[in-house]
Amino acid sequence: MVVCKSFLLLTFACFVLSVKGKYFDPCYKDDIKCLSKATEDFLEKTYNGVAETQIKPFDPLIIPELNVVVDQAMGLTFDFKNINITGLKNQQISDFQMDTSKKSVLLKTRAVLNIVADLKIKFTNKNKEFTGTYTASTTALGASQYSYTLTKKGDNEFFDVGPETNTCEIIGEPVVTISDNLASALENDSDAQAMKPDYEDNKTSLRKKTLCQIVETAYITVIHNIRAVAQIFPKSAFFIDI
Ligand SMILES: *[C@@H]1O[C@H](CO)[C@@H](O)[C@H](O)[C@H]1NC(C)=O
Ligand SMILES: *[C@@H]1O[C@H](CO)[C@@H](O)[C@H](O)[C@H]1NC(C)=O
Ligand SMILES: *[C@@H]1O[C@H](CO)[C@@H](O)[C@H](O)[C@H]1NC(C)=O
Repeated sequence: MVVCKSFLLLTFACFVLSVKGKYFDPCYKDDIKCLSKATEDFLEKTYNGVAETQIKPFDPLIIPELNVVVDQAMGLTFDFKNINITGLKNQQISDFQMDTSKKSVLLKTRAVLNIVADLKIKFTNKNKEFTGTYTASTTALGASQYSYTLTKKGDNEFFDVGPETNTCEIIGEPVVTISDNLASALENDSDAQAMKPDYEDNKTSLRKKTLCQIVETAYITVIHNIRAVAQIFPKSAFFIDI
């Protein structure tokens, strides 16, 4: 691989990458079809992570811990542990906009995700908690906005991806279930029963809000990997016209 010759410090990373084959072909920045194909190739080849690089595994993606304030007024909090997300390797680009004068990127992808987690439901106003497991499947649109700069190293220019802002939208009605032990403990609790009508009234949007916090957290790793691969390959590996 020619790219690696001028890049002595990362020789080993280059070796690992070249052994695994070419990751993607470069695209014109406005060619969404080409970018989508390149992204799919990249996701398929890297979802287990790549040793000796900063590319982390992302399918399954494990989020060790995440606390979500589901509804402040109701005093309802979900403390998740060991969130296991599958499906990120099959995400598809739904939009890509690169503004070369502002040096900013908007990337939107769509993914069908399955999520399993340990869950502690807390009633913060009542000092009560219930534990069990949480399972969800949903279609999510993730959007990430980041700036970039181009840095010269040797003969090549590399993208330096700046901090990102991730947002998410849940498409359609998510399917969410909790384990039987958790459901029956809530069934059996008078405070839970008192809260139920308010919860049911707004169930879909509360579920979507919760899932979006999981998806936005997952996106941190997705963008981390884009940042990592941009350190390994020069801009010409990604784009023909930049
Ligand atoms: C995550 O879920 C997948 C699919 O159900 C499973 O194969 C994998 O072992 C799980 N990983 C962990 C660390 O629980
Ligand atoms: C339901 O409540 C009763 C009485 O408080 C208790 O004996 C029983 O163990 C509870 N069941 C569950 C599933 O929490
Ligand atoms: C339902 O949830 C949404 C999103 O969290 C919130 O904006 C809205 O005020 C809630 N409505 C009620 C009736 O609680």
